[in-house]
Amino acid sequence: MPSNHSLTGVSFIGCGAAAPETVVLNDALAQVVDTSDEWIASRTGIRQRHVSNDRESLAGFATEAAQQALAMAGVAAADVDMIILATSSAEDLFGTACQIQAQLGATKAVAFDLTAACSGFVFGVVTAAQFLRSGAYQNILVIGADLLSRWVDWNDRNTCVLFGDGAGAVLMQATEDADRLLGFEIRSDGTQNCCLNLAFKPELRELIPGTILTQGRYQYITMNGKEVYRFAINRVPDAIDKVIHQANLTSNDIDWLILHQANQRIMDAVAERLHIPAEKVVSNVANYGNTSAASIPIALNEAVRSGRIQSGDTIATSGFGAGLSWGAAIFKWG
Ligand code: ACO
Repeated sequence: MPSNHSLTGVSFIGCGAAAPETVVLNDALAQVVDTSDEWIASRTGIRQRHVSNDRESLAGFATEAAQQALAMAGVAAADVDMIILATSSAEDLFGTACQIQAQLGATKAVAFDLTAACSGFVFGVVTAAQFLRSGAYQNILVIGADLLSRWVDWNDRNTCVLFGDGAGAVLMQATEDADRLLGFEIRSDGTQNCCLNLAFKPELRELIPGTILTQGRYQYITMNGKEVYRFAINRVPDAIDKVIHQANLTSNDIDWLILHQANQRIMDAVAERLHIPAEKVVSNVANYGNTSAASIPIALNEAVRSGRIQSGDTIATSGFGAGLSWGAAIFKWG
């Protein structure tokens, strides 16, 4: 049963990340499809991506990231109330979050998956905040994890060069101090759903005469890159602008911009539209490619552990992608 404290604030006190050891450089991909390091790097900023092997699992990377977040926060797994796993590449369509709960030993935590593609981490943070602000829960792990190397068509140069595997996590805690989530905006536009899909492909099976079922499997990722690009550079600055106003701030007050790491050109265009200088933009897309729901917490974790992001810094973040969906949030670290 949730307790009913009158805690109203949210704080972000731990982070962690994990990725497969195996790295595939752009030059190596040029042996798989008709592409080049020059094309990939100049169009996307990506130089390499991490890809998982048959001994590795989504739950394993997610658990590792979560353990790091708990250690940084000084919170025991047994004290976690909820685990939200943002993923679009669950190993079990019934949900992968419970495997993480078991591996962590987070015995009292309720655990569930949240599917919102590359917006998943921001949606997860906003969801967690509602449970913390209401006083229902004290400690929530929000994990973004995806192994999209399993779901790209390695014969399609339009998509296979973009994605990589990884996991990132944050520990959010209820606090009686000032709320550190300063504003959020989460949005969907299903009319553009066909721009980016990892869709079920039905095969018909006549179970008994006259009764036809649809069985089948999921297709590889399909994407209209130009449309998604246009969508991102239009919607993301607007959403961030909105949360900056919600928080009674201006873009000058933003210490760090951490966008979903899809494409360096998207990050540059969004930062420019918001008048946020390049040195405030956290980017590691060169090393990971697009890790979907994992990209924001992996970038956050690197910036916190390298000492760039300090306690009290104001961070603007935005995830965007399939759905189409997008979300933005402003929070203070620590
Ligand atoms: N290597 C070489 N050439 C390529 C490659 C490649 N890997 N991929 C495409 N090309 C070719 C195309 O075939 C095209 O050739 P053509 O002119 O002869 O037809 C040419 O390069 C130009 O292609 P464009 O699509 O115009 O390239 P663009 O500059 O738009 O970049 C990209 C493509 C990188 C996909 C870009 O559109 C993009 O980043 N889109 C957004 C994707 C995204 O952000 N997704 C995020 C959400 S992910 C999620 O939610 C799971």
